[in-house]
Amino acid sequence: MDKLIISGNAKLKGSIAVKGSKNSALPLLVSSLLTNKDLILRNLPDLEDINNMQKLLKEYGVSIKNKKNEITLNGKNIFNRVADYDIVRKMRASILILGPLLSKFGEAKISLPGGCAIGTRPIDIHLLGLKQLGAEFQIENGFVIGKVNKHLIGNNVDLPFPSVGATENILMASVLAKGNTKIINSAKEPEIIDLANSLNSMGAKISGAGSKIILIEGVNSLKKTNYQILSDRIVAGTFIIAAVMINKNFKVKKINSHHLDSLIVALEKMGANLKVKKTSVEILPTEKLLGINIKTAPYPGFPTDLQAQIMALMCIVDGDSEIKETIFENRFMHVPELNRLGADIKVKKETAYIKGNRKFKGAQVMASDLRASVSLVLAALCANGKTVINRVYHLDRGYEKIEKTLGKLGPKIKREKI
Ligand code: UD1
Repeated sequence: MDKLIISGNAKLKGSIAVKGSKNSALPLLVSSLLTNKDLILRNLPDLEDINNMQKLLKEYGVSIKNKKNEITLNGKNIFNRVADYDIVRKMRASILILGPLLSKFGEAKISLPGGCAIGTRPIDIHLLGLKQLGAEFQIENGFVIGKVNKHLIGNNVDLPFPSVGATENILMASVLAKGNTKIINSAKEPEIIDLANSLNSMGAKISGAGSKIILIEGVNSLKKTNYQILSDRIVAGTFIIAAVMINKNFKVKKINSHHLDSLIVALEKMGANLKVKKTSVEILPTEKLLGINIKTAPYPGFPTDLQAQIMALMCIVDGDSEIKETIFENRFMHVPELNRLGADIKVKKETAYIKGNRKFKGAQVMASDLRASVSLVLAALCANGKTVINRVYHLDRGYEKIEKTLGKLGPKIKREKI
């Protein structure tokens, strides 16, 4: 297992060009199961979750060719319908194969998924939606076993909560279903629009993605496409927050800044000096930063995936802040670790109370989930002294070789095997 050693009082210089989004790329890779033709995806990030998804798809018989930032997938020779525990336990997004397999082959068996330990994260909404399209499920020995009589049939699917994964699963399943599907109360995240755009470029008939209602007209088959993956708004947001914390000139490029509106509003309210353009955000030094109260919410609300990072910033500004986490019930595992670095944060139920005016001091800490890990990196960059972050494998799931990416921008950061 690796650890990161980070020297504090770091500077960030220059700019970073953000790569493709992990959360877009995962369902896009899975969509290869729906077609017999080539699916070419550009701007693929080099991440553990992406490697694991490729391993999983290969187990099913998807042929995969990698070329630098580009990948070609072909799902015409699928021979397997069973997803094993070993890969699925590492990544909750594995559940996304359920809808496409049921839709194309009428059967699927998948181990109940794992991923970040940030709550119970059930899959009831996925199953409820797929049942509305005619699938039947049994849970046996830790596996979900799904079956369909002939074809999935289009229907109205009303989601009790706008789950990102469930929307993607149902969307992919309904593309090849017979007739029309209406997903009501669907998630509106940019990654949903990206998936719909890619599927439409393959010949699907989807409208309304990005709004509360998505309409899908079923088609018989999908054709070849070559698609550019959306840039990662969470990685972009993480670097913007890092630069605000370090308070030096820095630019985050190759992004869609509109996807970061809620973060930009929050940072400007805190006093950050940002020059926002359509495809970049420039962070300029500022005199004073203040505490604020925020609440995470489904898009376009403040993303839960940036909650840990903005919390690290809140520790070092003037005045106190509060964060209410409304998406995941157990997403404050970074709090004790940030406190080890000198923060003063208390959690009561779903709200974290963050005391400002703290100065981080280097210490040994433990990474607990993907975004929690990166909040520790941000704190370490601003700390006095050295910080050692243990168990960094979660970080590798969502940030490309962070020691190299950050190392090029100035900070001293190295990886060691334990
Ligand atoms: C996706 C993102 C993740 C992000 C999250 C919320 C990917 C690969 N991951 O995760 O980074 O933090 O959206 O923006 O895109 N829920 C249920 N039943 C279900 C499904 C979800 O109760 O069947 C609950 C979850 O436990 C959670 C909430 O709904 O409390 C949100 O989950 P969801 O939107 O599904 O997140 P993911 O798709 O897992």
